[in-house]
Amino acid sequence: MRLLLLNGPNLNLLGRREPDVYGNRSFEDYLQQLRQQYPDIQLDYYQSNHEGDLIDRLHADGFTADGIILNAGAYTHTSIALHDAIRAITAPVIEVHISNVHQREPFRHTSLISAACRGVICGFGLDSYRLAIESFRK
Ligand code: DQA
Repeated sequence: MRLLLLNGPNLNLLGRREPDVYGNRSFEDYLQQLRQQYPDIQLDYYQSNHEGDLIDRLHADGFTADGIILNAGAYTHTSIALHDAIRAITAPVIEVHISNVHQREPFRHTSLISAACRGVICGFGLDSYRLAIESFRK
């Protein structure tokens, strides 16, 4: 099985960015743990701060990966283009968020991508990504 973990804007700063909200662990460090935990799964990883890059990567992997785990960051709340890209590909996409967006500012309560995704996992810290991987193991 091959899964793509796809992170959007500002998630390159995990570990340094608002640690009270997002924790103090870098994604690269967490990814190492995930790869050890799931040696039987190929976990590809890509991060970009640019909406078009994320769309390009969805197109590139969206017909061959077994699944995509997408934290679109703030583009979650703004991007019809990401919604359309998710609908355009055949790989199932799970939307994840580290924080519980529903406990935060009202502008985070709307997701423009959820309706195009297989499911949504939010609020479990970095463990949200592992829970998404588990959903593909069934
Ligand atoms: C986030 C939540 C978004 O609202 C925010 O813009 C992020 C991170 C999360 O993982 O909790 O950048 O997607």
